[in-house]
Amino acid sequence: MRNFIIAAASGALLLISSQGIAADIEAGKKKAAEVCAACHGPDGNSPAPAFPKLAGQHASYLEKSLNEYKSGTRKDPIMAGMAAALSKEDIENLSAYFASQSGLKTRY
Ligand code: HEC
Repeated sequence: MRNFIIAAASGALLLISSQGIAADIEAGKKKAAEVCAACHGPDGNSPAPAFPKLAGQHASYLEKSLNEYKSGTRKDPIMAGMAAALSKEDIENLSAYFASQSGLKTRY
């Protein structure tokens, strides 16, 4: 039983670290500056409430949202156009980049 727990734990760690290697945060940062910053802010702290903050959100959630805009499961005319132009790698890198930024507290 003990061995099983150790094996399961190291398997989970491997999974986490391989995800870390797969995504390229620097590439995500560059892409974000070129494409996303106008609406979501350079670090994902959007300047206007109409654009959701991406900074500090979970990478898996950002990735899921972008894939859903791309497939049409989640509908938004603006983001559908944005996501259509992104590759699988772009989505992983952008998600890792915005997740790595700290979300600023707002006083709403
Ligand atoms: C022209 C403005 C604009 C640009 C440029 C833009 N977005 Fe968006 N984005 C929006 C709007 C508006 C929404 C809210 C859509 C909705 O209600 O689903 C949104 C929503 C999102 C969401 C969902 C957030 C959440 O909390 O559910 C993600 C993720 C996202 N954008 C990522 C990106 C990325 C990555 C880029 C660059 C490739 C980008 N956006 C470029 C306007 C923009």
